[in-house]
Formats: sequence, C-alpha cells, structure tokens
Amino acid sequence: MQTNTKFSAPTTANVELTEKCNARCLHCYNPWREEHMGVNSQTIDTIKKTIDKLKEAGVFHLIFTGGEPMSKMEVLYEALKYGKKLGFSFSLNSNLMLTTDAKMKQLAELGLDHVLTSFPSIDSKENDHIMQVKNSIKKIERGIINCTNNNIRVSVNCVITKSNYKNVYATGKFVAKLGVQKLFVTRAVPPVYSYDTEKEPVVEEAYKLTHDEAKSALDQALRVKKETGILLGSLVNFPVCFLGDLEKYKDFFGRGCPSQRGDRININATGTMHTCVHEEEEYGNILNDNLQEVYQTKMSKWHDKKQMIYKGCEGCDYIPTCYSGCQMVAIAFNGKFGSKDPLYVGPNAVSKKFLIDEKMFSELEKKLDDPNLPLKINKNLRHRAEKGFDLINIQWGNTISVKNEISSFVQENKNKELKANEIPFDKPTIVFLILKNILQNKDIDIGKELQSQGLSFNFETLPYFKSVNA
Ligand SMILES: C[S@@+](CC[C@H](N)C(=O)[O-])C[C@H]1O[C@@H](n2cnc3c(N)ncnc32)[C@H](O)[C@@H]1O
Ligand code: SF4
Ligand code: SF4
Repeated sequence: MQTNTKFSAPTTANVELTEKCNARCLHCYNPWREEHMGVNSQTIDTIKKTIDKLKEAGVFHLIFTGGEPMSKMEVLYEALKYGKKLGFSFSLNSNLMLTTDAKMKQLAELGLDHVLTSFPSIDSKENDHIMQVKNSIKKIERGIINCTNNNIRVSVNCVITKSNYKNVYATGKFVAKLGVQKLFVTRAVPPVYSYDTEKEPVVEEAYKLTHDEAKSALDQALRVKKETGILLGSLVNFPVCFLGDLEKYKDFFGRGCPSQRGDRININATGTMHTCVHEEEEYGNILNDNLQEVYQTKMSKWHDKKQMIYKGCEGCDYIPTCYSGCQMVAIAFNGKFGSKDPLYVGPNAVSKKFLIDEKMFSELEKKLDDPNLPLKINKNLRHRAEKGFDLINIQWGNTISVKNEISSFVQENKNKELKANEIPFDKPTIVFLILKNILQNKDIDIGKELQSQGLSFNFETLPYFKSVNA
C-alpha cells in the first residue's frame, strides 16, 4: 500500500532452467533462440547456487521456465526440492507436452501446485504451425489432464498476434472445459531478434495488432468467462487508456509491469540477469555478481519513471498502475524506452472508472462495526524488511509494501485470535488487509474472482484507500 517505494531486490524471479525446447514457437521471445537453441542449461550445482543467491537477496517466489523446463527433469526436481527447503513458493511455465502422470505426481509431491502453459490456438493446423510441433493440441491437452489429475492448477497463456487473435473464444472454451482455472490473453511482444533497435526498428506485421483486434481478443475472452466462469488476465500490460472502459475490462487492469514495479527479474540458463524476460540487455551474472547491487544500480533505470514513462503520458492519473503500457513492446516499435506503446490512447482516456464494486467496502466496514468480529492473521505470510517500509508476501508472487507498523503488528500477532477492536488501524486499512487476505474471518467470503483479482490488483491506487496510502 506504499506507492513510490524502492525495493532493495526483486520479489520474484523467472529462472530459466534450460534453453532446450521441444517446440519452436514462431513468436517465442527467447533471444538465444536463433543462435544457440538448446545449448545452455542449468546444472544441479548452478541451480542450487542460483537459488541460494535469490534467497540471500530476499526473493519470495520463483517461476521455473525456459526453454522447456520439463526437458531437464532432474534439474527441475532439484530446483523444486531445494527451493522448497529454502522457503520459496514456485510456479512452472511449461508447454506440458513432455508430461506423464508419474512426472506430474512427483512434481506435485515436491510442492508444485500451479503451471502456466502455452496454448496459442484451438485450430490444430494453426497451433502446429505456431509451435512447430505435430499434434500439438493433443499433447498439451494430455498435459493439462495430467496436471489436474494430480491437483496441479493450470493457467493457459494464449499469446496473440494478428494470425490467431480471432480464435481466443474457441481456445478459451476448450481449455475451460478441461478444467483450466485462468486464461491469460497476452499480446505477443516482438522478440528482440525480430527487429534491430540500432537501425530504424522494423516490426513484423504479425505483431501489429490494431486497437480493434486487441479489443476483439479481450471481448472473446470475456464471453468465455461469462459462459464458463474461467478467470482472466494478461501477462503483458495493456495501457489503461486502451482498456478505456475499466468496468468491462477490469480483469485486464491493475497488474501493471512487474519489472517496472521492481518485483521481477529474469535469469537465463547461463545465469545472465535481465530485468524483463523479453529484454536483450544483460546486467551481469547471478553466479558471479551481487544481485542486490546489480538491481539497485544497472537495473534501476527500469524503476525510474523519468526514463520509462512516455512523455505523452504526463498528467495521466493512471501512471502508477499503467507504467505507459509495455515498454518492451514500445522499444520494439520506437527503438527506445520511455516511448509510446502502440495501443496508447492518451492521458485519462478512461470512459468508465469503475474497477470494483465499492459497495463491498461499505459492507465490510459495516461488519467491522462489530467490535467483537473475530479476525486472524494469515499464517502463510512472508516478510522482508526494507528501508522505511516492509514487504509482505501473501502467496506466490503477490507481494505488497506496507508501513512498518502494519508489518510489525502482523508479525507480533501471528498466532493470536483477534477481535476487530484490537486492530489499531482505521477501517480502510483493515478492509485493505482483508481484501489482501492478510486478515481473515471465516464468514467473510470475498469470492473466488475478487480473491484472485485482489491479490494482483493494486487496490492502493483507488481513492478509497487514500488514507492507508499516506
Ligand atoms: C518462453 S516460455 C517458456 C516456458 C514453456 N516453454 C512454455 O512455452 O510455456 C514462457 C511464456 O512466455 C510466453 N511467450 C513466449 N514468447 C512470447 C512473446 N513474444 N510475447 C509474449 N509472451 C511470450 C509463452 O507463451 C509462455 O507462456
Ligand atoms: S514452448 Fe515455450 S520456450 Fe518453447 S518455443 Fe514455445 S514459448 Fe518458446
Ligand atoms: S496515458 Fe500513458 S500512463 Fe496514462 S493510461 Fe495511457 S499509456 Fe497509461
């Protein structure tokens, strides 16, 4: 709930276990793809050293990725085992084509409870073409079933370009039927090898989604949600002014850019560090360099709004949540950071500001009128001290910054049964802590959607929370 805070280190890391991959997606961002696909991989020794370094820096959550991490099973098993021992939460990015029931059982036993899988199109010819794999849909489908049979939640990442955006509805319906929990509609970021920032950048036509095409993809996803209840999101930030109607498109609002926010870094299979997964620039190697120092110096341009925010965004109220859309898309189109996202519309071009049913705030406040309302503190919270504030990780990659007094209260009262009148904060702060699942009451059910949204949504930027943000 503290905005404008500078972290000492990231809170989440994408860790590439290998460059090896059984697919060759046409849009795949991995910069090494063209030159040395499959050459570099982590070893058990390097992955343990990497995880040690991430622990030292206070990172909470690891996303094991690649390449295809399931093509290096022994490294993946060890990464999970070692990560769990050191108290990390983790998720896996996998195309799921290499799964078997036995492998997923073993991963589940090691604590894996979520996989993000790639699924570009329900059209089998198109999917095979995009992923460059025969029978790709059958293979992914079997992979999803192997996960759900072993109680591993699956989210699908449908990366869209001009060629497949029309199939989002049918793809979403198909995966919802398979028990997929969340559908991410992610615009493809032009891979760095596909353009040259030194020369006039030329972006391939496939990546030039128009406003209407991108909106059509989101509308199709909303139809799937209406018909199936699937949760929605996007892994590449849409400019808030592009969304415009925030009531309709609230599922795609609020996540912002994790790299600009300071939460995320990416580590390649060689140990090379990047701030964003899509980025070519290297910031040292985690095995040889001090992560915190690199993060606070070389990477700090990513956290500096002066450098990253597009001039045309000046005066926009949404800068703290929007970060000028996606600056990796912007650099592909314009050759530099701090430039215009092609889906940019303009400051405050928001037709409907509605983000959340604010009635819920007053209902929660009413409940809090009962001084004896029992509340307890979520037992799974993790903490990290920063200069002048604290970080609380609620679960997975969901970390928020809070004032020291809130963090101290939460830590000191961890195992106590509390009553509402024993919590020394004003109502908006308590409401915030309930919505963030830091304070819990068994009779307050904020619903599956809000819970999922609540964790990744920057409530702190809403006017209602002005007092808690001060
Ligand atoms: C590089 S893949 C590695 C993990 C695994 N092989 C997979 O595909 O799920 C990680 C994620 O990035 C997504 N992705 C790949 N290229 C992308 C691009 N150019 N823009 C946006 N997302 C992309 C993939 O769909 C996948 O969800
Ligand atoms: S499956 Fe993943 S790593 Fe492999 S080519 Fe596709 S997006 Fe890239
Ligand atoms: S004007 Fe800039 S900061 Fe504001 S919503 Fe649009 S892209 Fe985002």
